[in-house]
Amino acid sequence: MYARVVAGAVAAALGTAAVLLSPGSDARAGDTGTPAVIAHRGASAYAPENTLAAIDKAAELGFSWVENDVQRTRDGELVVLHDDSLQRTTDVEDVFPGRAPWKVRDFTAAEIGRLDAGGWFSPAYAGARVPTLTQYMRRVEHNHEKLLLEIKNPELYPGIEQQTLKLLGDEGWLDGRHRDRLIVQSFDTDSVRAVHELKPAVTTACLGTPAVTELDRLADFTDLVNPAHASLTREYVSAVHGFHGPHGRPLGVFAWTVDDAATARGVAGYGVDGIITNKPDVVRAALGSD
Ligand code: G3P
Ligand code: CA
Repeated sequence: MYARVVAGAVAAALGTAAVLLSPGSDARAGDTGTPAVIAHRGASAYAPENTLAAIDKAAELGFSWVENDVQRTRDGELVVLHDDSLQRTTDVEDVFPGRAPWKVRDFTAAEIGRLDAGGWFSPAYAGARVPTLTQYMRRVEHNHEKLLLEIKNPELYPGIEQQTLKLLGDEGWLDGRHRDRLIVQSFDTDSVRAVHELKPAVTTACLGTPAVTELDRLADFTDLVNPAHASLTREYVSAVHGFHGPHGRPLGVFAWTVDDAATARGVAGYGVDGIITNKPDVVRAALGSD
């Protein structure tokens, strides 16, 4: 702990990067002082969240980082969806009216593949599908994007960490070329620890605002702490930066979900390393990085 804190204090004194994911990574704030901008569930203010259209929109707007949410179907397929139910973001109630409460884990991948995941958002996106994680990773690769992957509700899906890492490996995302392009995060710190223990080279993040007294323990297996923006203070960001993670770099901070210019400027002023947003264009303009 002492070494971590001292190293963090030295880094702060030198004004160096708060988070160094690795040399050349644009997820660090330190080179320019400008936080990375991460399109939350894709550019989800402009296209239906967690669809391929949403990550295409992020790319079209000129953003490389996208965030998603991963869950598992009844027959064991990993799919990209935020809620544990299909109700809000698909037409599942119409297609399967007798299957309330429409939990992801109660439907097969083939059944989910029949659903419209875009029409609820706009008629222009009618017919968009819930992507499998395999389809999603291929589109991220095609778009030359980077991924902040959230393991959602891991308590519902035993073994999802290993399964997700296997898929990422099969898709080539665990090689050295992808190391700067992938962060795996969860609200469940045991899940983050499991990811780190299974694949120590992978960059990880704990969602939430853990007490400062917890940070030393978390720094054994997490590279970033990603809090809700309303919970943040300058002092908290500094405290997080004062610890070193499992890869020997200061812990980073990505704040969510920031959709207005004033808040973006505020958290940037606290020294965060990334801003997770449904409106990446608004954040970019606010930070003057257009
Ligand atoms: O990446 C941060 C954010 O996605 C966490 O909250 O509920 O939008 O998944 P949620
Ligand atoms: Ca998420």
